[in-house]
Amino acid sequence: MGLGVDKRIVANITAIGGFVPENRRTNFDLEKVTETSDEWIVKRTGIKERRILDEGLATSDMAVEAIKNLAVTYSIDLATIDCLMVATSTPDMLMPATANIIAGKLGIENIWAFDINAACSGFLYALNMGSSLVESGRYKRVLVVGADKISSYVDVYDRSTNILFGDGAGVVLLEPSADQNGLLDAILMSNGTGKESLHIEGGGSMYPASETSIEAGRHFIKQDGKVVFKNAIQSMSDTCINVVKRNNYTMNDVQWLIPHQANKRIIDAVGKEIEIEEGKTLVNIEKYGNTIAATIPLCMWENVHRLKKGDLILLTAFGAGFSWGSTLLNWTLD
Ligand code: UT7
Repeated sequence: MGLGVDKRIVANITAIGGFVPENRRTNFDLEKVTETSDEWIVKRTGIKERRILDEGLATSDMAVEAIKNLAVTYSIDLATIDCLMVATSTPDMLMPATANIIAGKLGIENIWAFDINAACSGFLYALNMGSSLVESGRYKRVLVVGADKISSYVDVYDRSTNILFGDGAGVVLLEPSADQNGLLDAILMSNGTGKESLHIEGGGSMYPASETSIEAGRHFIKQDGKVVFKNAIQSMSDTCINVVKRNNYTMNDVQWLIPHQANKRIIDAVGKEIEIEEGKTLVNIEKYGNTIAATIPLCMWENVHRLKKGDLILLTAFGAGFSWGSTLLNWTLD
């Protein structure tokens, strides 16, 4: 006898945490090092400042703070966690996995911990993996982290990237839902065609660290902003529309859109394309810029007081790969 439909396990978010470093890099700071202006940056991106983690600290340090914030706020005993999954493309080091390092720093032993790299889509990829683990019935408490110290890869003299990126970390706890409500569905995609338009080439097996790779600036993030911009709007919009439709909802049923925060103009264009009512889109890009895998959990965490039990929430992201997707969920926290 199989499990009846009514016995299906559904994962839901039962706790959330976040962390951003203290140190701010404002548009005025960038005016001093590159030919740009606060006015241009605000108009073209919506960003006013970003947070930058101190040298000597790494992605794991921010993730640890975000997890501690979650544990304290929701009284979670970290010894009860089954699995720790970290979406990041700026790991502390190539090995061991940042998830392993985080577990060590938190003193959690014998835990299944691993990283997922899907750049700016990483949190949505990890969220879907985490919910599948919970749905399988084999895992009861899964931490899903999105964390990136992208400032380690930003050339502060390159105005095509230095204006966009900042550091941060967010985390959610997934558990089986008591009333079969929570993470409803996800559409996740990649096509591999974006490799030339957005990448950090250096330090991998293709271009290991060498004098020539460093001289060529291969260890910095590079992007063709216009190509990324155009693809982002189309891809996020399509998956938003499809995930809402295939679950028999309309965009009017969606209470909040929480998009990846890469550029305010992209966020506005997606909102227009999918015809979501004004005021339903959560944005915090002005304070943090693009924190890669951390944007969505950070935005959710900051706005947690606005999210009400039963709200239908649409998440969407786009990033290197290209990789992209959308997730539909019912908010179940009080
Ligand atoms: O999460 C996924 C990762 N990334 C993204 O989603 C980012 C996607 N792309 C973007 O956000 C935008 O393409 C940028 C913000 C990177 C650039 O904005 P844009 O509107 O595409 O600007 P542009 O590159 O077309 O440049 C327009 C003008 C140019 O001058 P001219 O040729 O019109 O005289 C540039 O030289 O603005 C100039 N410009 C700047 N001026 C001041 C380009 N960058 C800057 C700058 N400050 N930082």
